[in-house]
Parts: sequence; C-alpha cells; structure tokens
Amino acid sequence: MKKVFQMKSIETQMQDELEGLKASHLFRTLKKVDSEQSSRIVIDGRECINLSSNNYLGLANHQALKEASTTAINKYGNSAAASRLISGNMDLHEILEMTTASFKGTEDALLFNSGYTANIGILQALADERDAIFSDELNHASIIDGCRLSRARVFIYNHRDAGHLRSLLSSSAEKGGARYRRRVVVTDSVFSMDGDIAPIPDIIDAAEEYDAMLIADDAHATGVLGKGGRGAFEHFGIKNGRCIQMGTYSKALGSFGAYIACNRTVKEYLINNARSFIYTTALPPSVIAASIAAIKLLQKDTETPMSQRLTKGDENPSLLRLLSGQALPSPLRGEGKGEGGFSGEPSCPFGAQRNMIIPPPLNPLPQGEGRYERLTIIPPHQLEKTGGGEACPELVEGGEGERRGFSGEILNRLRENTKLFRDGLKSLGYNTLNSETPIIPLFLGDTEKTILFSKRLFDEGIYASAIRPPTVPAGACRIRTTVSAIHSREDIEYCIEVFRRVGIEIGII
Ligand SMILES: Cc1ncc(COP(=O)(O)O)c(C=O)c1O
Repeated sequence: MKKVFQMKSIETQMQDELEGLKASHLFRTLKKVDSEQSSRIVIDGRECINLSSNNYLGLANHQALKEASTTAINKYGNSAAASRLISGNMDLHEILEMTTASFKGTEDALLFNSGYTANIGILQALADERDAIFSDELNHASIIDGCRLSRARVFIYNHRDAGHLRSLLSSSAEKGGARYRRRVVVTDSVFSMDGDIAPIPDIIDAAEEYDAMLIADDAHATGVLGKGGRGAFEHFGIKNGRCIQMGTYSKALGSFGAYIACNRTVKEYLINNARSFIYTTALPPSVIAASIAAIKLLQKDTETPMSQRLTKGDENPSLLRLLSGQALPSPLRGEGKGEGGFSGEPSCPFGAQRNMIIPPPLNPLPQGEGRYERLTIIPPHQLEKTGGGEACPELVEGGEGERRGFSGEILNRLRENTKLFRDGLKSLGYNTLNSETPIIPLFLGDTEKTILFSKRLFDEGIYASAIRPPTVPAGACRIRTTVSAIHSREDIEYCIEVFRRVGIEIGII
C-alpha cells in the first residue's frame, strides 16, 4: 500500500500556529526601548510615560547602582565564569547574601540568577512525587512551572482564599492513604497582574495547622511593601517562622537576580538540591554590586535599631575596597546630567526624539539631603538578633507608617503616586480589581478592546501594555499599569486625563 505523508513540516505547523495566534489577537511581538529605564522611556522611537515597568523606586538607572557596578567590574571583571559550586563563588555573592538576610530579618539567604530560576529551583528541590504543593490559582508562571517540574501532586486553591486552602490541606490529609511526605504552600505575596496582596497571616495559620511549609514570592513586594520596603512580612508584621521568602533584585531594587531568604538548613538543602542553582553560572559582579547598593540605599538614613546595626557594622574589607572613598552624588538631588532617577533636574536623554505630546517632567522626587554612604556589611556573628526566626523590632511593628530618610521619602512618594493614580482611575469608573499596590490593572475583559486601548495610549505618549492570555485567563484581558516613585504628579495627572479621553472614545467608561 502506498504510504501517504500527511504530516506537515514542523515549520509549516509552527507558522499555522502563529497565524492562529494572530487571528485571535494573541500574537506577541517585541518592542524596542532606546533609552535608559526611567519614568519615561523611548520605545519604538517615541518618548512615552512608562506605565509598564517594575522599576517601582526608580533605581534602575540610579547613580549609586551604576557606580557600584562599574567599580565591581574594574575589580572583579565581567563574569563569575563558573557556577558557584565550582569556582564562581566570589566574596561579593556572600556579601549580598548577608546583606539580604539582614534586610529581610532572616538567618541567611541564597542567590539565584532570576526569580524564574529561583521558583523552579525551590519547588523542584523541596517537592517530588511523594509530596503535595498547594498553589494559588493566580500564581506567577514560574511557580506553575516549578510545580510541574517537581512532579508533586498539585492542589490549586481559589485566589487568596485561605479557607479553600485549609479545606484542600485537610482533604489531602484524609484521603484514603494519600499521605504526603511534605506539604508545601506557595503564593505570590503581591500578584503580578492584579496588584492585590495575599493574606499571608491566614495562609501561615493554615499551613502551620497541617505542618506545611510556606513559600512566599515577594518579587513585587520587595522594595514596595512594609515601612522599610522589606516586603510582605514587614507589611503584616510577621516573624519569619518556618517560611521561605523568595524575592527579586530586578524589580523595585533596580538590578537583576533573585534571593531566597531562609534559615541555614533550607539554604544548605537548596545548595545541594536546587538544579537551577547548581547548574548555572553565578551572577556577574556588576549585578551583585548593584543589588548591594540598592539595599544599602533603602537602609540609608533610618533611625531604627536594625538600620543602625547595618550602617555601623563591621566593614568588610573587600567591599570597602570596592566601594569606598568615592565622592558620590546625592541620590535625591542628582548632580550629573542625564542621571535620571532622582535628579532634581529632569533627565532628558532623548534629544531630537522627544515628542512633546506629554508634559515635561517636573521635579520627580522630594528633596533629600546628603550623600549616600560607602557600603558596609555586617558579618554573620552580628546578625544574631535577626536570625533564627527572631524578627527585628521593625519587622514586628508592621504597617506602612511614616519612615524617615531616603527610604522614607522614596516609599512615601511611591505610595502617594499609587494612591493618586488609583483614585483617579476609580473615580473615572474603571475596574482596578482589588489592587492595593503600585500594580494597578484596568480590567477590560475583551482582547481586541484591550489591544486598541493600549495602542491609543501609545499614540498619546503613554506606554501601558495589554495583558492577554495565557498570562491572564481567557476573558480577563487588562491594561496593566505600574506606578513608580519617580513619576511626577504632572505625569500622573496627564495619564488620568488621557485614560478618561480614551476610555470614552472606546466606550469603556
Ligand atoms: C511574582 C513573580 N515571580 C517571579 C518572577 C520572575 O522574576 P524574574 O523576572 O527575576 O525572573 C516575576 C517576574 O516577572 C514575578 O512577577
């Protein structure tokens, strides 16, 4: 019998699939940014107010981070050139881990190369076929992939529903012989597409009742929630307990990479089991130094016991050599042309590309004083008050509250901007879901309308991306906006006015 080849070539299949995506308005393309990341960016040749980045504090182009990176490159070179378990473990990596642990109030911390690799690494390391993972239905894709990689039984609980979590934990404990070796609960602390906050205290209660371990993904909480920007646990005033906090340096902290803040046992376990930690080249020195500089900026000028310990601590000779004695410009006033971020003078690196549809940026941050300090580090033996699950006084205080110094100014500004924008959108009649953070979605539902909305915003000099499936469920398309401390009041008022006009034009409000 004659053989009939019905199979299309693989490329033709792929093209067919891509055509299908285009037909359903789900085809993705890259946009090109031709400027540094700031409150405005040049994207596809046009200057826009940037409502789409995770640069919540404006640190992505901050002078302190740039200088730390260049100094680190001069001393250590460009690359760690090997995984940490081979020859890539530089003193800088350990310094960042100690700095992160003291910032988070945990016994220790472990670096991963990104939030994505951290989540797949911890879940794969902590759970396997013998175990059960309990995951919020709106958790980030990296958590979903980590669950799959682990091969554990996965229970999905309703979004932010600690009651449903509890009932799943309970039924998993009862069902005919289905006893799991470990139960792991995992949740975003701030949900990346909705901007709402997980009820961490209730989730901890449920987890503890069933002897489960909690992993909280603080990617969008680090540098955003809590008085000192230390994340969801500080926001809720929770002691560390048996929880693992994952977070990133790539969002509010303006750098790159991720951490797991945990106790020493978990750290050692991950070093020995997390494949995305073991089999990859260590983060480069420039990135590590920028992350250290970002944390030190957040710790600057505070008057709390914890921050006093951090600024008066023993100075690590290697880091001091790295970052000492430089006459660095003020982070708030800005003393260099085009430094962006915290410059008193608007940064305008765009030259002829500047499009005057949008108002000029005014003074983007309140004035502050002083130079930022040389970086110092606390050796582990001085961290006993924050280690072993003992929270520092600041952490147990909880709430957002008032805070002085650099972090106080910058966090207050972020919160003011967030409130101004969210209140403005709500008063126009937009559905911003349950957002409580600088991630403010405009829930529109329909795919085509969402794309059209985003395109019209771009015409008006605002970049806010359309979020479609599979990033969000079908029928749940939205414009995801993010507010930053470095947006000026005029930027935000301009955006609200454009959202009003475009919303009426498209028939949404
Ligand atoms: C909740 C959450 N977790 C993890 C990640 C991944 O972090 P990274 O961008 O560092 O890979 C992201 C970022 O997109 C996120 O939103």
